[in-house]
Amino acid sequence: MSGLLTPRLVLRPWDPSDPADVDFLFDTYSRWDVQRYIGRVPRVMEDRAEAVTLARRWSDTAYQQPLGIRAVTRASDGQRLGSVLLKPIPASGTADPPQPSGDVEIGWHLHPDAWGHGYATEAASAVLAAGFASGLDRVVAVTHPDNVASQAVCRRLGMRSLGLSDAYYDVTCALFEARSDAVPGAAARGE
Ligand SMILES: CC(C)(COP(=O)(O)OP(=O)(O)OC[C@H]1O[C@@H](n2cnc3c(N)ncnc32)[C@H](O)[C@@H]1OP(=O)(O)O)[C@@H](O)C(=O)NCCC(=O)NCCS
Repeated sequence: MSGLLTPRLVLRPWDPSDPADVDFLFDTYSRWDVQRYIGRVPRVMEDRAEAVTLARRWSDTAYQQPLGIRAVTRASDGQRLGSVLLKPIPASGTADPPQPSGDVEIGWHLHPDAWGHGYATEAASAVLAAGFASGLDRVVAVTHPDNVASQAVCRRLGMRSLGLSDAYYDVTCALFEARSDAVPGAAARGE
């Protein structure tokens, strides 16, 4: 998985051997403000060992380029801000084990200290463009129906609202999609 650059951000793999990466993941995912809309049964992380496991799972080897779950960091000082993901999304009704739906999802989880600066939209825009440049023609985003902040990111990215859906993760979500032929200039820029 390669890194990506945006005007203000460096998107890079998580490093499970870097204690600062693990500490940041634990600090982020142990917060209810971050977790309340994530997962079928939201829960906060309670043990740092869970963050080590997460960093391992999200590190370099997990996905083929351009897919990946990357650390969002600030270019000016390396400050960790959160995670941006582009990955296969499991279909509903396949929980054990989850089976891919054939679709690719984009998502974003920022530390609350990093909210309100446009970082999620900037990171996701670069990841989406990289996905389209590599040949994806459709990317979805699943949001909890009450997660207006995440739905606002979808809209800022130009994603189209498809209403409520039960297609993924065995949950009802507010579903958004982006299509490569509907993102002006992304493929042409080769991003
Ligand atoms: C969803 C989430 C990433 C949204 O974060 P966010 O910071 O609101 O989103 P953006 O990066 O698009 O930033 C937009 C905000 O930055 C502000 N902003 C400030 N400077 C900006 C800039 N230079 N460029 C763009 N926006 C800027 C915008 O005005 C907007 O704030 P507003 O909504 O108060 O008007 C964040 O709430 C989060 O991590 N939540 C917890 C995890 C989660 O629920 N993830 C989604 C699961 S589906």
